[in-house]
Amino acid sequence: MRGRRDLDRRELRELVTSIAADPDTWRPLVCHGVPERHFEQLWRDDHVDVWVITWMNGNDTGFHDHDVSRGAVAVVEGEIIEERLVVGGPPLQLRHRAGEAFDFDASHVHRMLQDSDAPAVSIHAYSPPLWRMGTYATGPDGTLRRESISYAEELRPVEGAAAVH
Ligand SMILES: [Fe+2]
Repeated sequence: MRGRRDLDRRELRELVTSIAADPDTWRPLVCHGVPERHFEQLWRDDHVDVWVITWMNGNDTGFHDHDVSRGAVAVVEGEIIEERLVVGGPPLQLRHRAGEAFDFDASHVHRMLQDSDAPAVSIHAYSPPLWRMGTYATGPDGTLRRESISYAEELRPVEGAAAVH
C-alpha cells in the first residue's frame, strides 16, 4: 500500500476490493456485540488511510463530507444504506450489499446507515488520508449549515439534520 502519491478513485476502489477479498486482513478488526458503530484503522500513511467499520441496526452517520479526501467503500458483510442529498427533493437512496463497492470524489456528501438485524462490515479507504470532515444540519431558519470536525470524532446524526430530507 505504500505509495508516493495520492490514489485516485479507481485505485481506491481496487484497494478496498482487494482488502475485502482477503478476510484475514480485516476480520480481526470486526467488532460484533456493541450497539455503536465501531471503526478500526487498518492502515494510515501519507497518502491513504483504511478503516474497518462494523455496523449494527440503527447506526447512522448523518450527512457528512470528507473535506478534501476522495474515497471508496467495499461492503464485506450485510448491507448498508447510502443516502445522497438532493436539493429540493428526497435523498437518493442506494443499498450496498456484501460483495459490492462504490467510490466517490471529494465533493461527495452522503449519509450511511444500517437498518437490518444482521450486522454489516465495510472497508473504507480515503486519499489523501482523512483529516477533517464536514457534518450537516439545518439551523432554526431551515438553512443548511456545515460544521468542520476532526476525523477522530465520531460521525453521528446532528440535531435538525432530519429536516434536510
Ligand atoms: Fe462517508
